[in-house]
Amino acid sequence: MLSLRGVRKTYGERVVLDGVDIDVAEHEVVVLIGASGSGKSTLLRCVDLLEDIDDGRILLDGRDISDPRIDADAARQAMGMVFQSYNLFPHMTALGNVALAPRVVHGATRRDADDRGRELLERVGLADKADAYPDHLSGGQQQRVAIARALAYDPRLLLLDEITSALDPELVGEVLELVGGLAEAGSTIVMATHEMAFARDVADTVFFLDGGRIVESGPAATLLTAPEHERTKAFLRRFTAGR
Ligand SMILES: Nc1ncnc2c1ncn2[C@@H]1O[C@H](COP(=O)(O)OP(=O)(O)OP(=O)(O)O)[C@@H](O)[C@H]1O
Ligand SMILES: [Mg+2]
Repeated sequence: MLSLRGVRKTYGERVVLDGVDIDVAEHEVVVLIGASGSGKSTLLRCVDLLEDIDDGRILLDGRDISDPRIDADAARQAMGMVFQSYNLFPHMTALGNVALAPRVVHGATRRDADDRGRELLERVGLADKADAYPDHLSGGQQQRVAIARALAYDPRLLLLDEITSALDPELVGEVLELVGGLAEAGSTIVMATHEMAFARDVADTVFFLDGGRIVESGPAATLLTAPEHERTKAFLRRFTAGR
């Protein structure tokens, strides 16, 4: 469904993605791991067309979405992205946040947008929080609203960037549980995370990035427990030691 071919991204002199090749099949859950600065967020932002790439191609359902001539807004609507820190509009209720895009971007009537919004909140277990403002929601609940918002158009692909790393530990579980449920229901997901236990349980494939390159990839169970490359081993070792 998604193919990255030789994707290269630079910021000034700095090469942040250095020839990245990734294939994601429909219904596959892909997890990106790697040290801070290895390029995980940049990769997700390039796929979501929030950044232009300098070389290579990004194909979604066979279409080159990195071609500057395509309509990026239209392509982006096939994807739902959630970031590390919840970016809900503080002056809008949970329902307002979720129903905003259907109304504004898609011109749905307020009533249809609200119906859709309630359906989505129900799906993330927050039907009773429709009228709550973000600052009256826990961090975990806010992230679940952000996920509901990303699901608004039944995206082909969900892009999740460390969506639990700003949460208090006791709130991580509810968000990961939701993502696990979406994975089980067949969503196609590309997720950057430091939650190795979650990656092992939910990911089909794990990619290890180092300095903007894919050093190693493979089935989650194999890569996380028996990595081949020295750098992957060192990363995972440091990781377990740091926890
Ligand atoms: N807008 C930007 N301008 C310049 N450099 C950037 C920009 N965004 C990211 N970078 C650099 O690109 C590199 C990769 O950053 P990125 O955010 O993709 O890493 P990451 O793997 O997501 O790290 P983390 O685990 O800390 O989230 C870093 O060296 C970062 O400083
Ligand atoms: Mg990041």
